[in-house]
Amino acid sequence: MPRGPGAPEYIRNLAVYIPGKPVEEVRRELGISGEIVKLASNENPLGPSPKAVEAIRKALPELSRYPDGGGFYLRKAIAERHGIPDDQVILGGGSTEIIEMLARTFLADGEEAVFSQQSFVMYPIAVAAVNAKGISVPASAERRHDVEAMARAITPRTKLVYIANPSNPTGTYVTRGELSRFLDAIPDHVLVVMDQAYHEYVGREDYPDALDDLKAGRSVIVLRTFSKIYGLAGIRIGYALGSAEVIALLNRVRSPFNTSHLGQIAGLAALGDPEWVVRCSRENAVERAFLESELGRRGVRYTPSVANFVLAEFDRDVQHLFMEFQKRGVIIRPVGGPGLARCGRVSVGTHAENEKFVKVLDTLMEKSAG
Ligand SMILES: Cc1ncc(COP(=O)(O)O)c(C=O)c1O
Repeated sequence: MPRGPGAPEYIRNLAVYIPGKPVEEVRRELGISGEIVKLASNENPLGPSPKAVEAIRKALPELSRYPDGGGFYLRKAIAERHGIPDDQVILGGGSTEIIEMLARTFLADGEEAVFSQQSFVMYPIAVAAVNAKGISVPASAERRHDVEAMARAITPRTKLVYIANPSNPTGTYVTRGELSRFLDAIPDHVLVVMDQAYHEYVGREDYPDALDDLKAGRSVIVLRTFSKIYGLAGIRIGYALGSAEVIALLNRVRSPFNTSHLGQIAGLAALGDPEWVVRCSRENAVERAFLESELGRRGVRYTPSVANFVLAEFDRDVQHLFMEFQKRGVIIRPVGGPGLARCGRVSVGTHAENEKFVKVLDTLMEKSAG
């Protein structure tokens, strides 16, 4: 075997993002014959808008053509929806791609990016992948971003601050007051990445849409995705809203055909079906309350969530618990990491799926009590 060129140390040291196994593989490995409920990836249990599905079906014969690299129609629709010019919009293969593009665009070797310790796992990975330094700031006791500590962590070498609002895996959010004070406190050389992947689920008056801050001229870029409430995680389409200057820089590192034709078509159709979003958000709120109250009634501590998942803290090692759930046909997400060793994240499913989770939880609690 030729040894090949080898990779730099910072690549060899990268943590690998571990996705869940395909449901069919879990079924095969564990010999499960019944239905498997997947509550592990914060997907929309109601699926995509039927209008998006229909648009995809119609576009299938066009697949021999390259996509429109600039995503003209989808960008235009997004710009109109948000009331900004279309040179302030960029598309990504999911918002994950934009998280990575930001690191590649703004972070030179050894420069710094700040994020919360209990936040999206892709931030440290994206930052380390360009040989930059991730500064991970402990969360507050309520598992919220400690934005004051994050502001204090900024140095002359800091270029980016990633804020997930709401945050994953905690389901907590930064309020309008906190965000405004934070933006007032940060120096000009820092770009604040407001990752609003779960934005549409939040029903709180003091929850800020950072688009307002962008429009007010603050140094902010807002990330949004079609993967969550729009139910299009499998087609990989997301976007960012930023200043024309920041978007122009990102376009320099963007690969020319980074989003697919079907992704663009589906995103456009999904944007045109706001009723679907309202319905999914309502059902999610009802089912999230159900999950939280069932956890609470059983004495399982959880972090009150504004998103489409709930972080539960169990009384035992969550890896083992995850396997026990899986054997019984329910897949949750073991979390791990600082302060989260006993935490599992449960995505909000349909009522039947959530009931199955609760039933298996009861079985496991009885088993350990007995
Ligand atoms: C906070 C946050 N941001 C971004 C993403 C990425 O989503 P996508 O790349 O599918 O748009 C996720 C997905 O789990 C997330 O939780």
